[in-house]
Amino acid sequence: MRYLISILVLTFLAVGFAQDGEAVYSTNCVACHQATGDGLPGAFPNLNGNVSKIVVVEGGRDYLIKAVLFGMMGEITIAENTFNGAMPAWGSLSDEDIAGVLNYIVSSWEQELPEDFAEFTAEEVATARAEELNFDDVLALRNALVFGE
Ligand code: HEC
Repeated sequence: MRYLISILVLTFLAVGFAQDGEAVYSTNCVACHQATGDGLPGAFPNLNGNVSKIVVVEGGRDYLIKAVLFGMMGEITIAENTFNGAMPAWGSLSDEDIAGVLNYIVSSWEQELPEDFAEFTAEEVATARAEELNFDDVLALRNALVFGE
């Protein structure tokens, strides 16, 4: 019985977690990146099909946390599409909300993650927050990522 209760509690927590990330996304991100995660060509980059690739390369996880925390500006290329806009910093959101929205954007829409993917945690967002980066620092982190084919 105790076993059953812990399973129920864990299931409930897991569902709650996903919903929180989705709610943070709907409130703060959807206007630009769209409900489909596909963004708007030439204006707002697609997260769908993009961030699940970023999160698995070296430095990608760290970069994603910082892009959301500190915002970013400057030219980026995603699958041959170029964007040159600006995203405000989302540091006013709590560490939990940022971890939640990151977990939502890397695992939603048509994206798949490796089975051993470890979810973003509020603790790692708090650690990144202490660095106080600016737009240029975040762009440099992105430019340093190396993507395979
Ligand atoms: C006002 C429009 C706007 C909103 C709202 C917005 N973004 Fe962005 N986002 C952008 C733009 C524009 C860029 C690309 C900036 C550039 O060209 O340097 C971007 C870039 C990103 C990137 C980096 C993508 C990459 O390929 O490196 C991530 C991740 C991201 N946004 C997540 C989010 C999340 C999560 C939220 C909500 C908390 C959010 N964005 C809200 C406009 C927005």
